[in-house]
Amino acid sequence: MTKRYAVILAAGQGTRMKSKLYKVLHPVVGKPMVQHVINNLNAVNLDKLITIVGFGAEKVKEEIGDKSQFVIQEKQLGTGHAVLQAEELLKDAEGTTIVACGDTPLITGETFVKLFEHHEQSRASATILTANTPDPAGYGRVIRNAKNEVERIVEHKDATDEERLVNEINTGTYCFNNHELFTALQNITNDNAQGEYYLPDVIEVLRNESKKISAFVAADFEETLGINDRVALAQAERIMKKRLNEQHMRNGVAIIDPDQTYIGPDVIIEQDVTIYPGTIIKGKTTIKTDAIIGPNSELADCHIGEGTAVKQSVIHNSTVGSHVNIGPFAHIRPESVIGDHAKLGNFVEVKKTTLGDNSKVSHLSYIGDAEVGSNVNVGCGTITVNYDGKKKHLTTIEDNAFIGCNSNLIAPVTIGKGSYVAAGSTINKDVPDNALSIARARQSNKEDYVERIFNRKKD
Ligand code: UD1
Ligand code: CA
Repeated sequence: MTKRYAVILAAGQGTRMKSKLYKVLHPVVGKPMVQHVINNLNAVNLDKLITIVGFGAEKVKEEIGDKSQFVIQEKQLGTGHAVLQAEELLKDAEGTTIVACGDTPLITGETFVKLFEHHEQSRASATILTANTPDPAGYGRVIRNAKNEVERIVEHKDATDEERLVNEINTGTYCFNNHELFTALQNITNDNAQGEYYLPDVIEVLRNESKKISAFVAADFEETLGINDRVALAQAERIMKKRLNEQHMRNGVAIIDPDQTYIGPDVIIEQDVTIYPGTIIKGKTTIKTDAIIGPNSELADCHIGEGTAVKQSVIHNSTVGSHVNIGPFAHIRPESVIGDHAKLGNFVEVKKTTLGDNSKVSHLSYIGDAEVGSNVNVGCGTITVNYDGKKKHLTTIEDNAFIGCNSNLIAPVTIGKGSYVAAGSTINKDVPDNALSIARARQSNKEDYVERIFNRKKD
């Protein structure tokens, strides 16, 4: 089989984004756009992948890591000049080279595969991935002759009024015969509106040498959207979100309002999960069957067990068991593990805490740096006093303990199995198993005191 190489162009500054963040690192559904391009290119079995970097090179290299080789383009003299930077690494290679842009994250693996197949079957020197759009402004236009053959590509800025009426655009993705690409690149100039070496000019060079040029028209323009500014970035977000949501729905997930539901590309959701509006699910989150998530919840990097309900709550980097009830308005912070059939209710914050099966923290509590056993009831307003201003300390609450309302547990401290802490206690010593601990002032009632004060005031 013909060898396949890819060059990703990612050296431009992305001036039109008006951002400190380098263009190809702007996230779409939470993932930098250049990562989408690399992931989607994975569908093609590549023998070599080279990314051209320039502006923000270090950051882009760090993001991509060992998935690609890199070449630096010191000065951004145009897309043709950018490809030429890969000459050293590619010029002797026999095969097909795909050039893709780091700012077209929506082109699917399937389209890349079809483009390669079309190119290899037609035995063309170059095949352009094109698309038709009623609003082609800004894109390079594909100029065809009377026989409908592609003659050249003209950039929007260089195009005549008549050429600008053409609706077929260059998506910025092409397959080339590798040798012919690098030979033709020697013959392009920067004599154009932007004073740049345009890669699309290679088409005219090849054509003048009577080489075969082919075009593969993408089925859907949306997929080929190039992201040059934040308006296009928001469009890409909407398209990718829709794509992901539809995938989940086809897999059996009930998404009540897909327009209001944001699910990241690495999230795994089992069938019969229901997701209510205003929900954001990010990172490597897994949600087991029959869970109910939302409305208005944010989950990042967590595992949610079967049949668990999460309402109006935030959960980060934690594991939640099955048939757990969370919220409304709970916040589960990183490194927490919540057991099966547990409950975390209104205005409860939990951090770096293990909560055993069937344990409940129903209202208005802060439980941080704690190991809580099973069947524990933590009353309303309980606080683990975990921080002494310098260090965090551990609170241990053993199985079947009962913590009365409005208690302070000053860590490090252990509440033994089956013991009771009386409401309003401030506990700073360990409580043995099965004990009742009361640590509060005794109540004293002063009879008729109110009336006495009242009379005194009148004097
Ligand atoms: C480019 C095409 C245009 C096409 C459009 C599709 C050219 C001259 N024009 O225009 O025909 O319709 O894409 O989206 O190719 N880059 C470099 N080095 C450079 C210049 C650019 O690496 O010196 C990279 C950019 O980072 C970007 C990609 O190449 O990822 C495309 O560059 P951009 O400036 O966005 O080109 P467009 O004006 O969109
Ligand atoms: Ca672009």
